[in-house]
Amino acid sequence: MQKIAIPNLQPNMVVARNIFSPDGVLLLSADTVLNPSQIDRLQQFGLTSIYIKNPFTDNLNDSDLFDTIPEVVREETRVQAIQIVNTSFQNLAITQELNTQPFQEISDFLLEEVIKNRGAMIHLTDIRARDGYTFGHSVNVCVLATLTGLQMGYDLGKLKELALGALLHDTGKMLVPKELLIKPGPLTCAERKLMERHPDLGFNVLRTQRDIPLVSAHIAYQHHEKFDGTGYTRSLCGTEIHEYARIVAIADVYDALTSDRPYKEGTLPHEAYEIMMSLASTHFDPAILRIFLNQIAVYPLDSIVQLNTGDIAVVIGVTPGLQTRPTLKILVNADGCRLADGPEIDLTKNLTTFIHKVFTSTELLHLDARTSSKHCRRQQPTDMYLKKNFQPNS
Ligand SMILES: [Fe+2]
Repeated sequence: MQKIAIPNLQPNMVVARNIFSPDGVLLLSADTVLNPSQIDRLQQFGLTSIYIKNPFTDNLNDSDLFDTIPEVVREETRVQAIQIVNTSFQNLAITQELNTQPFQEISDFLLEEVIKNRGAMIHLTDIRARDGYTFGHSVNVCVLATLTGLQMGYDLGKLKELALGALLHDTGKMLVPKELLIKPGPLTCAERKLMERHPDLGFNVLRTQRDIPLVSAHIAYQHHEKFDGTGYTRSLCGTEIHEYARIVAIADVYDALTSDRPYKEGTLPHEAYEIMMSLASTHFDPAILRIFLNQIAVYPLDSIVQLNTGDIAVVIGVTPGLQTRPTLKILVNADGCRLADGPEIDLTKNLTTFIHKVFTSTELLHLDARTSSKHCRRQQPTDMYLKKNFQPNS
């Protein structure tokens, strides 16, 4: 399946996952073939993108390629959690009083689902409405952080403290002017200084709540500190920053990079992976970053990629810890011929083959039109692949 921006939707595309409105109502079910009025309706609901079935693999059953794409948290759970965070944070902005109970309930609920699905990798980014970034972001950071805590061997008590603090990490944003939160493009110097007060503002609200552990409140206080001491609010350095806040700092940036915003489409996971790696030791604790990145599918299942051989392939398998070397199935050979049953290649074993490019959903639309008419005479796929890639004396 491919994530596609709403303005790029076209009639006859097939919906790959259930689509919910920002207030949790099911708008369209998976397998719906889109018509123009449904596309208009999706636009009106303010969604930025949806998942559609991959035009490249629609003649193949997903089950022939891989089991269903595992989700750490079900879309229904996520939408429900976002709704409750939305209402509770809006109340805080109006009354300046925090009702902590809904956050306790949601963080426990999300934690339960993360524990139940332990071992699942992050393949999909969630779909959010244009004006709901902060609420979806809080839920996603909670999921990513608790998944990391689980990998680090945290017990239930620590996971609960981490989940709650992660969910509430941006509480202080509800206390800065709303115009700053939704402003497209860069902030002025004065606006940035105001925005940078949000960890402090959030901590001041959270530390006075009897049912919020102080250590969870410190996540809000410290989540913009950087490992080399160049962050804010107190320029803490290395292990002076609480371990929970070091985890949440990583989840926070990864989610911000990969999310669609009103002014830009989210970065693809492999690009986000490179950016995060480049920030190891400066922004992030490198040991925790390694654990975090091990659970991210750099090339998610069903991604369409081009190899250095010129072949175009679909990702059909990902191994945790070896995510940069997935297993692929060739769909189009270097001559542009569509293969009905191309060979499979395990990149952990084919060390001279590497991924050269990942196609965006928009590029795939053009690519599909270019190759769909060029089905080539059937050949023995494996023989053909070996002949092309392993010529004697080559
Ligand atoms: Fe923040």
